[in-house]
Amino acid sequence: MWLVTLLLLYSLQEANSEDVVSTRLYFVNASLQRVTFSSSVGVSLPCPAGGAPHAILRWYLAAGDDIYDVPHIRHVHANGTLQLYPFSPSAYNSIIHDNEYFCTAENQAGKIRSPSIHIKAGEAQTNCKHVK
Ligand SMILES: *[C@@H]1O[C@H](CO)[C@@H](O)[C@H](O)[C@H]1NC(C)=O
Ligand SMILES: *[C@@H]1O[C@H](CO)[C@@H](O)[C@H](O)[C@H]1NC(C)=O
Repeated sequence: MWLVTLLLLYSLQEANSEDVVSTRLYFVNASLQRVTFSSSVGVSLPCPAGGAPHAILRWYLAAGDDIYDVPHIRHVHANGTLQLYPFSPSAYNSIIHDNEYFCTAENQAGKIRSPSIHIKAGEAQTNCKHVK
């Protein structure tokens, strides 16, 4: 059924000289399984999955919970980048700062899910890799 739909779309699009078959989903970095960041720097993590021409990117906790924005703590940018802001020790929350996350990319081609990525805040460090 799906294949038939695709073929039909393809032949329709072909007449318009547009290539619908190029609609695709991909992993940007399938080997990314762990990100450790400094609480004094925070971290900005692009979705490791993507799509063309345009994919909707969503982050989840591996436990299945939706990601919600927490002001000054966590934000998902419109471009699918997950941002955890620098935080003071009193604001530490293991559900946010030491947890498994994953990202999905969805478009007409379907939907893919990245592997779970353990995002974990470490101590404030000067030698921590800055991810801007
Ligand atoms: C993918 O993630 C691994 C682990 O963090 C890293 O070593 C590697 O450089 C990344 N590759 C790309 C293309 O970003
Ligand atoms: C996504 O948007 C944020 C905020 O505007 C920006 O800092 C970041 O560099 C963007 N990332 C990508 C991959 O475009």
